[in-house]
This record gives sequence, C-alpha cells and structure tokens, in this order.
Amino acid sequence: MMPLREMAQAVLSTSDGRQKTALSRGFAAEWFATRIKDDPVSLGHATPPEFPARPEKPELLAPRDVPRRRPHTAKGRLAMLHAVAHIELNAVDLHWDLIARFEEIKMPLGYYDDWVRAADEESKHFNLMCDCLEAQDSYYGAMPAHAGMWRAATDTQDDIMGRLAVVPMVLEARGLDVTPGMITLFEGANNDMAVNALNVIYSEEVSHVAYGSKWFHFLCGRHDIDPKGEFHRLVKKYFHATLRPPFNEEKRAEAGIPPDFYWPLSDVARPPSGT
Ligand SMILES: [Fe+2]
Ligand SMILES: [Fe+2]
Repeated sequence: MMPLREMAQAVLSTSDGRQKTALSRGFAAEWFATRIKDDPVSLGHATPPEFPARPEKPELLAPRDVPRRRPHTAKGRLAMLHAVAHIELNAVDLHWDLIARFEEIKMPLGYYDDWVRAADEESKHFNLMCDCLEAQDSYYGAMPAHAGMWRAATDTQDDIMGRLAVVPMVLEARGLDVTPGMITLFEGANNDMAVNALNVIYSEEVSHVAYGSKWFHFLCGRHDIDPKGEFHRLVKKYFHATLRPPFNEEKRAEAGIPPDFYWPLSDVARPPSGT
C-alpha cells in the first residue's frame, strides 16, 4: 500500500474534481482494507502544497463579487447546489491536508482513520452535488465560486489545534446549522434528488464535527490545557468573524460541542437556557 501521506499528497495535487474524488475514494478503500494487516503502518512523508490543485473552472471570485443567490428561483437554487459542491470539494482537500500536514505531531492511528473516513464522505458529497447539477443540465464549474475557502487552511498551516478549532468545529459545525433550512427549501421545490443528497450530507457531517472535537480535546489533554478557553482563543485568533446564530444545539451537542463553546463567540446574547 502507498504510504498514507503520499496518498494525501496525490489527492491534493489532482485538479479535476471528479478525478480528485475518485482517487480519494479509492485510497480510502485501500487504507481500510490493508492498514490492519500492515504492521507497522506506514504513514510516509508528504510536502503538501500551500494551495491544492483545482480545476480551471469555476472562476474564483472575492466573496463580495460572487452573485447573490435568490433561493426562491430555480436559478438561485441551482447556484446554491453549485456553492455546496464547491464547499464539498474544498472539504475533500481540507481533510487530506489534515493527514499530509503536521507530520511532526505524533497522533494515534484513529486520528488518520477518522480523517480518511471524512475525506471519503466529502468525496461522495461532491459527487452527489455534481449529479444534481448535471441532472439539471449544469455542472461544477458553470458558475463562479467563492475564492476565500482555503483561507482557514493557510491561516492555520502551522497550528494543528487552530486548524481543528476553525475547520471542523466552526466551519463544518456551521453546516449543521444551515443544512436543515436548505433541505426544506428543496422539499418546497419538489427536487427529490437534491433533498436526498442533502440528507446524506446532513447525516454524515455530524461525525466530521465530532472528529474535530475529539482530537481537539485529545490534544488539550496531552498538553494539560483547558479546552474551552483554548477554543475561544484560537477561534478569535484565526476566524475573522463572530459566530452567527441560530445554532443547531442538538446536532452540535451530538458532535461534542457544548453551548458555552460557541455562544460566547457570537455577538448575540445567549437566550436563557431551555428556550
Ligand atoms: Fe460534506
Ligand atoms: Fe464535512
């Protein structure tokens, strides 16, 4: 088996979206099929690129230049699916980057298992979104997309705890807040294909947030640091905005993120408990 970090580097260096996800899914299957038999497991070495390879299209624009989406029009909903595809492709790279980078920090094997599984699921999510776009005579790349997605990765390229705080515990947790509203929107538009795809995404994203919380707490324990205070410090350092309610408290709790982690980082007063 190719060492895991070399697999990660190969995914990060592949530009076409469908090729990247095919490689990612194939490597994940190979990892889980062979790593139990391999003793010791070879993680190998990688020099992850500062920016992962991406296709020529979509054109990447500054957030203020990305056209506003009107969710109550068919065109607006199509643009929304395109934006989700873009987020999922970025997530594939983010999870493989968590494997390729931070080589000097020794982590248990379960850390690699979790991120390989998450990368495999993100690859499936990207493909599901591409299928939805193609069913409507569109494709990933047909519209411009957000240029700032990789910023969280470059900001935290030397700080594994900052990366875990900002990527799974803030950005992916945000996905848990907004996805139910999107599902309702596509139900209203009778788009069963999109509803089914978004339900798969919603059910699988909880575990990605949970992996983030698990390994963040693990590292806090290793260094004898208070997790809540450290989470607040790192999010303020690396995330350039306040957190926006409404929060999906139930799914966040399921993923191991208690309310006193995120409410103090929003600029809205926390409602009394039980409401
Ligand atoms: Fe995803
Ligand atoms: Fe995810």
